[in-house]
Amino acid sequence: MSEPESSLSPSAQAEQVRADFAAEFGRLTETLAPGTGEAAEAQLRALVELRQRQTGKKSALAAVKKLIGRVAPEERAQFGQLVKEIEAEITRALSETETALTEQISAARIERERIDVTQPGRRPRQGHLHPLTLLRQKIEDIFVSLGYHIEDDREIETDYYNFDALNIPEGHPARASQDTFYTTDGFALRSQTSTIQIRAMERRGAPLRVIAPGRVFRRDTPDLTHTPMFHQLEGLCVERGITLEHLKGTMGEFVRRLFGPQTKTRFRPSYFPFTEPSGEFDYTCFKCDGTGFLNGDRCRPCKGSGWIELGGSGMVHPNVLRACGVDPEEFSGFAFGLGLERMCALLYTLDDIRHMFENDVRFLEQFN
Ligand code: DAH
Repeated sequence: MSEPESSLSPSAQAEQVRADFAAEFGRLTETLAPGTGEAAEAQLRALVELRQRQTGKKSALAAVKKLIGRVAPEERAQFGQLVKEIEAEITRALSETETALTEQISAARIERERIDVTQPGRRPRQGHLHPLTLLRQKIEDIFVSLGYHIEDDREIETDYYNFDALNIPEGHPARASQDTFYTTDGFALRSQTSTIQIRAMERRGAPLRVIAPGRVFRRDTPDLTHTPMFHQLEGLCVERGITLEHLKGTMGEFVRRLFGPQTKTRFRPSYFPFTEPSGEFDYTCFKCDGTGFLNGDRCRPCKGSGWIELGGSGMVHPNVLRACGVDPEEFSGFAFGLGLERMCALLYTLDDIRHMFENDVRFLEQFN
């Protein structure tokens, strides 16, 4: 397809190219002003289109360049010079503007992405301790101040530590009430933290004072007051000349520090294979101060009795001391075990201990 012959002379055509470019470029640059990055990006797109139109293969400039070969030889040098000048002018104008726009765009991006390092940080949402942990820590603090070490030990145990060494031989009825979860090769999940009495004495020998909080497991069907996993806190004090009086004094001091100086204790005879004599400790109810009544109603935590059961205890059985290589002629001691869920449920008047293990934040958030 041949292009229509222009009636203008080649130089006039070249000048026309110059003028057309100047006009269009003028319209574009009129709108240029230090603006937002987005405006500069739009202008840059317009500039690219303009370059395509004004300098591309089908542009008037390209057509004029083709004329160079066709003008009379004596005019060619001068005409060629003119076209080159015009092309250089156009290219310079376009590239200067392009550089300016690109700089504007990148300055705007830097501004947009600037980080204010002086801005105060956002405080992360902070959780808090589980009610059982809070209670455990309170108890630990009390016993540490009475000279006790905190022991921690394994949850998977052998029969020997869970039963035999605690004076509960094979076939003893106490084993039945502490049925637990067994693995295939003679191990089981401990059913009581009393295992730590043995472990601690083996490790430390006598004299010693330790407490051991930890998880224990039993084959119980979950209900309001039972879960197959729960927490106990074991205590053991073995020294020369320890008597029942020391046990009573220690328990009394413990509940007074935990529930207040008015709290009293009572000791009821009971039976545990690893202590002799054995007893269960009660303390006067922290809600009704042992009266059994609260605002004329029967007090709930103590069910109107005025007393709340604290846990089991007793004087360490000589067989247990012997099993750990401690001479019962030289040393004597007392031991006790508390159930943490029960205490926690009473303290916070929870009607279902299963709440403690459901990890529902609506429940957990209430204990700060
Ligand atoms: N281990 C006992 C249980 O799980 C609790 C206990 C009773 C621990 C008397 C003791 C103790 O240390 O002296 O029922």
